Amino acid sequence: MYKNAPIGVFDSGVGGLTVVREIIRQMPEERIVYFGDTARLPYGSKSRDTIIRYSRQNIRFLLTMDVKAIVIACNTASAYALETVEKEFELPVIGVIRAGAVTAVNATRNGKIGVIGTEGTVGSGIYTEVIKKLNPDVKVTGKACPLFVPLVEEGLLHDSVTDEIASRYLSELKGRFIDTLVLGCTHYPLLRSTVGRIMGSDVTLVNPAYETALELKALLEERGMSCEPGSAEDDPDKYRFYVSDLADKFTAFATSILPKQVKETRKINIEKY
Ligand code: DGL
Repeated sequence: MYKNAPIGVFDSGVGGLTVVREIIRQMPEERIVYFGDTARLPYGSKSRDTIIRYSRQNIRFLLTMDVKAIVIACNTASAYALETVEKEFELPVIGVIRAGAVTAVNATRNGKIGVIGTEGTVGSGIYTEVIKKLNPDVKVTGKACPLFVPLVEEGLLHDSVTDEIASRYLSELKGRFIDTLVLGCTHYPLLRSTVGRIMGSDVTLVNPAYETALELKALLEERGMSCEPGSAEDDPDKYRFYVSDLADKFTAFATSILPKQVKETRKINIEKY
């Protein structure tokens, strides 16, 4: 029974669906409960204390759904809260930062890595810290790109405005001759083609969403917690979506990026948890 319990995933809003998309691709058997904290986003410009409080509440809510593991599918919450909450809760909790950092260190040839993310993630210095622990000789340049999140949420994935803003943000990183760039925010994989075109084909783009799904798969297998094949096949509630506000807007966005149509998103009062 426990093996067949869902995986709990949370993010500040829709961005964490890029992680859900990778989990579905790599582990199509698993059930998922997703919570998007749409009433309290953005997380990227809030303080550490606030993000830890929000993360605790989000996990307490997901625990009411009897989840077997938690994925913090938000770079800002992973940066600020993972270390605290992984000690406080008994189930496995993983974030998105370590997997992305490991991949970047393995990918770089010239030892120069760039990281783009929210002000919170870049300001926390967490990617630099994790990368330096893996290889102290690597040089890391971080760049906050705060306008990328609203551009994605407005659907401007392929637009001249996005090109212009991306060129400005990325020019500093180009000047540092990085050969690897971590897309350190949930929304940025959706801008992959724009970022890739501006950085050029010699720069490897690392999508922590993909790597996190791989890490989750390995963790579930290692602990004998993977779902039994076929157990969720006829379950109409295999994927459940909850938000703290604007459920219909979330449903439309989720349907545009997930491989399956999202039929329903339920709204909850997260302050109760
Ligand atoms: N999910 C956030 C992250 O990955 C981006 C959106 C926000 O600032 O809430 O950092």
